Amino acid sequence: MLRLCWLMLPAIAAKLCSNSSIPCVQLPHGVQMPMVALGSWRGSYKDCADNNYSCAQEHARQAVQSWLQSVGGTHVDTANDYRTQVQVGEALKASGLAREEAFVTTKCPGAIGFNATLQCIEDNIQMLGFYSEEKPYIDLVLVHFPFAIKPECNGVTGGSECEAPYYDPGSEVHRETWAAMEFALRMGRVRAVGLMEISDFAEKPAVNQVEWHPYHHDDQLKAFCDAHGIAVEAWSPLSGQNASALSDPTVKEVAAKYNVSTAQVVLRWSLQQNVSVVVGTEKVDHMKTDLELFSFQLTASEMQSISKLRSLSGQIFV
Ligand SMILES: NC(=O)c1ccc[n+]([C@@H]2O[C@H](COP(=O)([O-])OP(=O)(O)OC[C@H]3O[C@@H](n4cnc5c(N)ncnc54)[C@H](OP(=O)(O)O)[C@@H]3O)[C@@H](O)[C@H]2O)c1
Repeated sequence: MLRLCWLMLPAIAAKLCSNSSIPCVQLPHGVQMPMVALGSWRGSYKDCADNNYSCAQEHARQAVQSWLQSVGGTHVDTANDYRTQVQVGEALKASGLAREEAFVTTKCPGAIGFNATLQCIEDNIQMLGFYSEEKPYIDLVLVHFPFAIKPECNGVTGGSECEAPYYDPGSEVHRETWAAMEFALRMGRVRAVGLMEISDFAEKPAVNQVEWHPYHHDDQLKAFCDAHGIAVEAWSPLSGQNASALSDPTVKEVAAKYNVSTAQVVLRWSLQQNVSVVVGTEKVDHMKTDLELFSFQLTASEMQSISKLRSLSGQIFV
């Protein structure tokens, strides 16, 4: 089954991309999405324990403000699941950027039905502080998971009731969830929506955010998205918290050739396939180099060698 983080987005756009050195990917309805985003998930911060949301929130506030104010980033990624929307909104305000100079992605948690999805979108607009705007909107909203989580198990680890916290609520709830996304689109809270698995829906996803790095990439899914005009966006593009791809000998060799960091090579490998990236870091030095990806170009054979690391990593991908 194709795993989707479905989304919907509204757009405003042009200024965001014309004033920035970071390229944008063109999405439906005239929306332009900057191809390098900063994530705000707890797992991106090394010293935050599982479910320590206050820790993640403090890191996110600092990191997002640096990203927007000092480093020149414009795109930030958050989610209900991360609980960092308030801090992202406050950091955006503190950065001095106008609303239309930033692109904010957020996510609603899975297949939760019509009313809950609409409520989630409204709550995100509220948490992000966008109701102070004349026309409040979120740039991109994703349906985070292709399943549902028992609400009583959110943020809970262990306990017999939450041993199996995930479930499939059935196709009707999936349909209703997507119908709510389309409704929010018509309401102007978002500008594009989509869904691949149910063909009688009006919109297809504009973006599919999936795990994507040299050790984990689904080229078949990418080909499918390309064929249907769906932009692919990478989460954990550096291979996640321990970033093991950054010490891979193949990646190191290419980095030495161009005199860039291994992180730059790995991110460039995604961008060169037209895959946008959502990086996780709170270090300003890392943020800066994570944006300096456009002064070198990998050859076809370097691209291929890095792509092949997936089959060498011994992981099984479904
Ligand atoms: N849709 C989903 O289901 C989903 C799932 C997971 C994540 N995400 C999104 O993706 C974002 C990123 O995910 P992630 O944190 O797992 O993955 P990642 O960006 O692949 O890896 C983060 C790691 O890379 C390191 N790093 C970043 N820039 C670096 C650089 N220039 N040089 C060396 N190391 C560098 C960071 O360490 P330092 O702290 O030392 O910089 C951190 O340990 C999340 O915050 C979230 O927004 C989405």
